[in-house]
Amino acid sequence: MAEPSSAPTGPTPEVLTAVESDFTSALDHARGNGEALQRLRSEYFGPKGRLTGLLRSVGQLPPAERRDAGQNTNKLKQKLEAGLTEAIEAQEQAAREAELKSGRLDMSLDGRLNRPQGAFHPVTRVIREMTDIFARMGFSVATGPEVETDGYNFEALNFPPDHPARDMQDTFFVRPPDARAIKALVLRTHTSPVQIRSMRAQGAPIRVISPGRVYRCDEDRTHSPMFHQIEGLWVDEGISLAHLKGVLTSFVTALFGERGMRLRPSFFPFVEPGVEVDIQCVFCGGSGCRVCKHTGWMEILGAGMVHPAVLENCNIDPERYTGFAWGLGADRIAMLRWQIDDLAHLFRSDVRFLGQL
Ligand code: PHE
Repeated sequence: MAEPSSAPTGPTPEVLTAVESDFTSALDHARGNGEALQRLRSEYFGPKGRLTGLLRSVGQLPPAERRDAGQNTNKLKQKLEAGLTEAIEAQEQAAREAELKSGRLDMSLDGRLNRPQGAFHPVTRVIREMTDIFARMGFSVATGPEVETDGYNFEALNFPPDHPARDMQDTFFVRPPDARAIKALVLRTHTSPVQIRSMRAQGAPIRVISPGRVYRCDEDRTHSPMFHQIEGLWVDEGISLAHLKGVLTSFVTALFGERGMRLRPSFFPFVEPGVEVDIQCVFCGGSGCRVCKHTGWMEILGAGMVHPAVLENCNIDPERYTGFAWGLGADRIAMLRWQIDDLAHLFRSDVRFLGQL
């Protein structure tokens, strides 16, 4: 049998026979080995391959021999290529089957894009939770703008123009686009203007809550210039302070479990009487600790019976209807829930902190 010859030889029948037998034994050797099969492909059919070279050399033969030599070479090339392709397909198929059998596809492995998962902000979480609690008591949700008119934020809520209670809620004034059109715009200092908006839109009876952002000129460990409140309003015939107490007791129990609650007289121009509501300290349970300043109580909200003047401002007859309202700080509830000592943490967007809650 002819040795593979290195010198380029024309495609004589002998040469073709030699090439075929070289190839056949090489193929038998390479069978089942993907890499060896690919090497074989380029050795014979690549740009510098033996068959490629033979085909090229046909052109150098005397014209009379070219036709036969060309046909024979091409035929051989097709035959060998078919054999190689078949061997490659068989090898790939076998490799796939081996992979399946070996169970190498481990579906329990983490994906490559194992990104950390996001979550709702703690304030959003408590707002949703509180909204759920009040929804179960039949309250629906109302909203209002954060940039509010002086009329809704103060006047309709019974704050006379020069009343000192306005100073307590000193705020950020916004220059209106057309100074003649609107008297004054403020970043709302509380969610109470939504009481007015809802009563004017819906009349009585009405039972709504309104969560949202509010703004005040305030900043320390428990105050931030922007914070969140949930307003509540229930107006109907025969509503009394007892209803206020009942609703808030259920709310506090749902949120913090069974605990003492007390109402202290307080003042807000839009309620009469007005109260502030304390609950027994969620940290010490009432025995007194640093957080509750050793009083055993913590204030969680302001509330009261809607002032008759406010009902009148909303075209509701105060002789027929009465109601109560409250406003509570959602951020403070989040602070109590997760024992956060500085309110500013909630608004710094530091995931190292938020990830701990
Ligand atoms: N709006 C008041 C505040 O921001 C809270 C409040 C709401 C008080 C409703 C009474 C009734 O402090």
